[in-house]
Amino acid sequence: MGIFQPLELSTNLSPFNRCDRIQAVMKVRSIRGFKDILPDSIKRWHYIEDSAGNIFELYGFSEIRIPVVEFTDIFARSIGTSTDIVEKEMYSFTDRDGSSITLRPEGTAGVVRAYIENSLYAKSTISKLYYMGMMFRHERPQKGRYRGFYQIGAELFGTKDPYADSEIILMLWRFLEKIEVTSLIRLELSSLGDENCRPSYKQKLVKYLRPLKNELCENCQRRLEVNPLRILDCKEKKCKEISKDAPSMLDNLCDNCNKHLDHVKDSLENFSIKYILNPRIVRGLDYYTRTVFEIKTDELGAQNAVAAGGRYDGLVEELGGPPTPAVGFSIGMERLVLLHEKIVPVGFQKGVDAFIAFIGKDTKKTAFQFAYDFRKQGISVEMEYENKSLKTQLKKADKLGAKYAIIVGEEELARGKVKVRNMGSSSEEEINIDKVKQLSIKLSN
Ligand code: HAM
Repeated sequence: MGIFQPLELSTNLSPFNRCDRIQAVMKVRSIRGFKDILPDSIKRWHYIEDSAGNIFELYGFSEIRIPVVEFTDIFARSIGTSTDIVEKEMYSFTDRDGSSITLRPEGTAGVVRAYIENSLYAKSTISKLYYMGMMFRHERPQKGRYRGFYQIGAELFGTKDPYADSEIILMLWRFLEKIEVTSLIRLELSSLGDENCRPSYKQKLVKYLRPLKNELCENCQRRLEVNPLRILDCKEKKCKEISKDAPSMLDNLCDNCNKHLDHVKDSLENFSIKYILNPRIVRGLDYYTRTVFEIKTDELGAQNAVAAGGRYDGLVEELGGPPTPAVGFSIGMERLVLLHEKIVPVGFQKGVDAFIAFIGKDTKKTAFQFAYDFRKQGISVEMEYENKSLKTQLKKADKLGAKYAIIVGEEELARGKVKVRNMGSSSEEEINIDKVKQLSIKLSN
């Protein structure tokens, strides 16, 4: 039975009855793998996003906003046709004009497209761009893995200098330090070589794996032909066992790639950023050259990558721009939020500065005026809509974390006064109505 049932709703039913019936027959729900971010957690999201923006700006990055859809071809050519993302995870549709378009599975390809299309390379040698937004991948949903998820990312265009790699990693680490999650994470670093050394490494790897082909999982048997490096990242026990003794990319880097990696390592060491060299980082996207890195955690079960990135010196040219080296990263927001909740469990609830309570007749209008005046001065206040007991109103003030409750009572109002209750100490004092303005000044400081 589908969730949509034909409804026979009598027009005589009251709106509430109609609503109840609609809800009973047609249960509304979100699409699997997509979730709401509710007001309870939005302050934490804002805090994390604002911290990222503030820190990235210190490093000279500016925000870019790109569309959530691109021509499918942009992603296929960037991420690689034999990657899991392009093979089976993209949300692709045929547009009304027959063109194939795709909801972005990541941000880098779109940023590169925007960089080329808007000739940003002509405006300055270096471009530093950051972005935040929703990405879409049709993966099997589980904790920390969604079909609609948010990323914060940064991309630096225009230099091959390893200092750019270090700067990108240092900026990412500084941000993670600022939001206090570094005790739960580790930085893993590697190099995937370049067009000089990777092809011969691939050959070596295939030569090692080919005699063991039948022992690999079905997926890796296919990968051996199309994307052998991905075998190093397979989670299947038998593949892990086989690839344990496979030749390592790090032992097969050419001189230039080796020097580049040494520079990045030195620079991180200079700033006492601890890293683990992990030659098995292969990344699920094909555009990388040289430096690759991942921020991992042991706190989130299988979804252990909180952020990832690296250098992609060929992508701008591949998509039709001038040869432009680049390096960047993206952070998975949901995973970062889960980590942040472990470190700072409370203190991110939405609260107000003051609560305006009213008791008795003809007080609501004055209370409503106070609320307006406070808000106009940038102070957040709440008040009750319906007449409720003072006890109920103060309970609500407490729940909202109000520092003060301004109690507008009939008898006090007649004397030109209101009561101000300090919600922390429960002490109360009466003040003249014209002093309420001074209270708002006090609250705004
Ligand atoms: P990625 O490794 O595919 O790289 O994704 C980056 C991060 O996004 C992951 O480490 C993870 O935290 C988060 N993420 C990925 N898939 C999901 C999912 N289904 N649910 C929740 N979180 C997820 C990229 O996207 C590259 N664009 C990174 C980059 C930027 N490289 C250079 N510049």
